[in-house]
Amino acid sequence: MEERTKIVADFAELSEDEAALPGSGGGLSVDIADRMIENVLGTMAYPFGVAVNFRINGRDYLIPMALEEPSVVAAASNMARLMREGDGVRTSTTDPVMIGQIQILEIPDMEAAEKALSEAKPRLLELANQQDPVLVKFGGGARDIVIRPIETEAGPMLINHLLVDCKDAMGANAVNTMCEALAPVVEELTGGRVLLRIISNLADRRLATAEATIKKEAIGGEHVVDDIIAAWAFADADPYRAATHNKGIMNGVIAVALAAAQDHRALEAGAHAYAAQSGRYRSLSRWSKNEEGDLVGVLEMPMAVGIVGGATRTHPLARLSLKVMGVKTARELAEVMAAVGLAQNLGALRALVQEGIQHGHMRLHARNLVVMAGAEGDLIERAVEALIESGEIRFDRAQEIVRRLKG
Ligand code: MEV
Repeated sequence: MEERTKIVADFAELSEDEAALPGSGGGLSVDIADRMIENVLGTMAYPFGVAVNFRINGRDYLIPMALEEPSVVAAASNMARLMREGDGVRTSTTDPVMIGQIQILEIPDMEAAEKALSEAKPRLLELANQQDPVLVKFGGGARDIVIRPIETEAGPMLINHLLVDCKDAMGANAVNTMCEALAPVVEELTGGRVLLRIISNLADRRLATAEATIKKEAIGGEHVVDDIIAAWAFADADPYRAATHNKGIMNGVIAVALAAAQDHRALEAGAHAYAAQSGRYRSLSRWSKNEEGDLVGVLEMPMAVGIVGGATRTHPLARLSLKVMGVKTARELAEVMAAVGLAQNLGALRALVQEGIQHGHMRLHARNLVVMAGAEGDLIERAVEALIESGEIRFDRAQEIVRRLKG
């Protein structure tokens, strides 16, 4: 761990204090925690690791990941190595535009209300922007209004979408404040009653895309390429498989989100709603092969992340994560997360079409079991070997082996 920390510290030019942070429990003091949420009793630590080998748009990245699941960091790093043998991961993002929703009920004249809202667009946008001069100063702010009539169980409604370029912020606070400020004017314009004023987590205007080509020889030959495409096609056609396939993508995305203290619930909600946007829940990624028979993967998904404000500021380890990644904008963070999501997806598919997922898990699982059974120090590796050799990777066997080795 010491050696790894030194490599990361050299790579990201960390100070001594910064380099010491992950190894000292994560640096979130109980005092800070007590100010973050309510009824605080303490903090809870997660393993904090680093994914390696990522080359994104020609630049090398070390990517912190926080999660409890074995094999994920290893799989991302392995697949990043294969992607690197091509030309790495190519990524892009749309402008970081979030949607705020204003729900308008009891409208006396729908057509007149729609007309009034669209005619008042400049006024509404100006009022929205007055709520956040800092965002406007940094080049962001309210950009447009989209009016959507919908039919519901509770009758017809108008839904006013406020589109806001959130720049480097995740944007929930800015967007919610703007929507709340617009509500009285919207009521006045439409003669209706405003009920909800809240951001939409279906951030389909804030997309991140990652694409990579993997040489067929690197992944095990053309038959493996074809099998990965067939495995992807299964997910794209079948929601039962798509949920698991997309979970694999989120293994990577959320681990980086946690390391950088992002709102991971917003990311999950956005990802799955986006996956269902065609009317059927589908794969977030797409795998195909090019003319040379090499594997080509593309992941496109909403990525509402920020590098200013919120927990990214208050959590010392989140700040450190951003520094290790060297990301300068929220868009860059979103692109790194999409790259990890794509690599993770490939890692799962490659394992599933070949040796199966349990094989890779076994060693780590065995290690967890022997530690739970009381193995310490040198005994851990010996117990792991014995447990794997026994062919029965179970807790009762681990207990027996640890008892035996301890004499
Ligand atoms: C396990 O955490 C994730 C996988 O189930 C993803 C997949 O099936 O594609 C391996």
